[in-house]
Amino acid sequence: TPVADSSDTQFAPSNIALCKYWGKRDVELNLPVNSSLSVSLAHLGSRTKVSVSDSDQVWLNGAQVAAGDKFARKVIAFIDLFRRGTDHCVRVETENNIPTAAGLASSASGFAALMLAIDQFYGLNLEPSVLSAFARMGSGSASRSLYEGFVEWQMGIREDGMDSFALPLDVRWPQLRIGLLKVDTGEKAVDSRAGMNRTVDTAHLYQSWPLQAAADLERLHQAIADQSFTCLGETAEQNALSMHATMIASWPPLLYWQPDSVAAMQTVWQARAEGLELYFTMDAGPNLKLLFTADAETAVNQRFPGLEVIRPFG
Ligand code: PMV
Repeated sequence: TPVADSSDTQFAPSNIALCKYWGKRDVELNLPVNSSLSVSLAHLGSRTKVSVSDSDQVWLNGAQVAAGDKFARKVIAFIDLFRRGTDHCVRVETENNIPTAAGLASSASGFAALMLAIDQFYGLNLEPSVLSAFARMGSGSASRSLYEGFVEWQMGIREDGMDSFALPLDVRWPQLRIGLLKVDTGEKAVDSRAGMNRTVDTAHLYQSWPLQAAADLERLHQAIADQSFTCLGETAEQNALSMHATMIASWPPLLYWQPDSVAAMQTVWQARAEGLELYFTMDAGPNLKLLFTADAETAVNQRFPGLEVIRPFG
């Protein structure tokens, strides 16, 4: 039962994984095959409020979403995990300040902010790790959006998933920069849920993914501890390409890249050959996220004019 007419507006940041979550060992609970590690995108994310209403309503960026819409159904299904019966209806309002033109997924910050709003609305006062475990059920990557900075989502081993949640790393890296390189921002034909299920079910190559992810996670921890940007960039880029290799090896094949994605990769590799420390990562879509440090910002901007640059540590 709600403890107030409305929650406050709650914020959660978006995040980008350096070691990706790809593949579920439990499809219902969103339990991952591997642990993952991300960096949150500071002020870019979602603001969400839950209030009592006459009917269930979902609002996104000031406009009501049709009740039959996939997004609205996911949000209401998530609310149903916490309300008993249908004795009250809710209105969920979300504002994303993620530049839509950047082609960044908003489900991670969206479900994390929704979880925070639900926690307040129902007076649950859950621990951060429990909030993270619940947010995970809305969208796996949302488990990591409960925190700022570097975050690790530990896969856990329990069948009920209560040990599968994210924790923040107590290390900052103020020079780190992330560039959002937009290739195409249209809605993709195969979302990440369908994409990872297809990969797990059909790609023999997927068998090597858990080993790659475990090794990369270890290297990233070392890179962050040493503040070694070369190690961080190399590991993140190889991890993303390994994930995409498993997608390409699925059937029907899953290739999220477009010709401009490949052209951008080649520009990154060319820049690196010329001595610029620049790397990229990619999620289940055609857009690149560039990784570099503050001292390379001018040179990166010259090669990618108009790049949206984020400072994850302020
Ligand atoms: O949280 P989901 O179900 O949208 O899956 C996210 C999958 C990737 O973005 C490709 C990787 C990740 O760890 O964020």
